[in-house]
Amino acid sequence: MKDGYKLMGFQYEFTGSLYSLGQIPRCKVAMLDHLKPGDKLLIAGVGHGTEAIEAARRGVDVTAVDISKTMLKYMQKKIDRARLDKPIRMINNDILEEHHPQEFDMVMANYFLNVFSREKMLKILTHLTTFVKPGGAMVIGDFTLPHEGGKFYKAFQTIYWYFAATFYWATADNAIHPIYNYPALLKSLGFEIEEIKNFKMLGMNCHRSILGRKKAESGSAGQKQTRAGTTA
Ligand SMILES: C[S@@+](CC[C@H](N)C(=O)[O-])C[C@H]1O[C@@H](n2cnc3c(N)ncnc32)[C@H](O)[C@@H]1O
Repeated sequence: MKDGYKLMGFQYEFTGSLYSLGQIPRCKVAMLDHLKPGDKLLIAGVGHGTEAIEAARRGVDVTAVDISKTMLKYMQKKIDRARLDKPIRMINNDILEEHHPQEFDMVMANYFLNVFSREKMLKILTHLTTFVKPGGAMVIGDFTLPHEGGKFYKAFQTIYWYFAATFYWATADNAIHPIYNYPALLKSLGFEIEEIKNFKMLGMNCHRSILGRKKAESGSAGQKQTRAGTTA
């Protein structure tokens, strides 16, 4: 399995926090309030595991998946420092090789889907939504679409995203592309957008966490969904 973060994985969490003036870590834990102790959470592309550790602290049953051994090594160091009562299930695998139909109350993809080309992102997002129980939630934390305010506002959001994307394209071979419209994609997969939390830098929305709810009725989104991408 390819470990794109072998060289630069060590600085990922620290640099992300600095680059966002502390907003990325806040964005990653923002939707954990929707869970209660004993609920099942899967985190895809978990990285150093900030939100996984916070969820485990709150008594949530956490499964964390990452393709990078390096990232999981740094996550393990954080877990050791955190001295959790509840263990976290850590899986070193490609998320597309994982199959957990309707197993989780919440599936989280923080700053994960943006590393892929549009085609692969659609495949992965569609795959992840099959893990969500009926009535459960799909949460995506990421950079904000540059769609609000005046020209300066949009230019700042655009440059802010492409600067980060170019850095990880050069160091981790990530794809470079416009920010994806996650609310529209989730809706196209049959999810209802229940909440969006915005995180500001210099007064501008730069990060957001989006919670989509899967329909609870049988025969709804879980069974009928087709591949995302028709509306976004
Ligand atoms: C941009 S980092 C985000 C890490 C973390 N979610 C965060 O917000 O700090 C993307 C993560 O996805 C992982 N990843 C990339 N492709 C993957 C795949 N196919 N399956 C599982 N993890 C993958 C990378 O190893 C990396 O840890």
